[in-house]
Amino acid sequence: MKFFVDTADVEAIRDLNDLGMADGVTTNPSLILKSGRDILEVTKEICGIVSGPVSAEVVALTADEMIAEGRKLAEIAPNIAVKVPLTWDGLKTCKVLTGEGHMVNVTLCFSANQALLAAKAGATFISPFIGRLDDINLDGLDLISDIRTIYDNYGFDTQILAASIRTANHVAQCAMIGADVVTAPPAVIKSLANHVLTDKGLDQFMQDWAKTGQTIL
Ligand code: G3P
Repeated sequence: MKFFVDTADVEAIRDLNDLGMADGVTTNPSLILKSGRDILEVTKEICGIVSGPVSAEVVALTADEMIAEGRKLAEIAPNIAVKVPLTWDGLKTCKVLTGEGHMVNVTLCFSANQALLAAKAGATFISPFIGRLDDINLDGLDLISDIRTIYDNYGFDTQILAASIRTANHVAQCAMIGADVVTAPPAVIKSLANHVLTDKGLDQFMQDWAKTGQTIL
């Protein structure tokens, strides 16, 4: 399963990329606002850090304007994936831009039917938002499972890019279900290594090693 980093914080991206844990990056208008930087400038810098897909989102609402914005974003670098919302205008934009050879990530997906439409529109990635479904007491992971079943039933190539990841459990469950990618905030990715028994066991090893009086170097 691929890990994409869900942020426009270039230092956090660089840190995870150095660890081999950044197979790509996703941004959105809220993450660009949080970065405090110009979208074209920060996206270009991110594309220079990671070799995998970097999602940059259009902000227009009509297909014609989305297509124009998407073409401009795609000019930034070869690894740009143009992000479009799951609306009919977004699906039309997806069809046009994938037809021109661009990667497209269809975002703000909250139902299996929406994911089915995105696959039929030729989406490279579909971004179902797990955390925001959980927020309204629905089970976001059930959606990932439903999309996996549908895509496998019909052999769709669209990659499931599980988004709105809030916990380490989301990551593990997405891997069990068979999502192709998870995109998670840097802190969630970093938390995947944490376990209280690892800390406890290492502490005991260090205490016992100290008692040997030995050194390795
Ligand atoms: O890429 C989508 C992601 O940024 C949304 O996450 O936590 O705002 O629902 P969240």
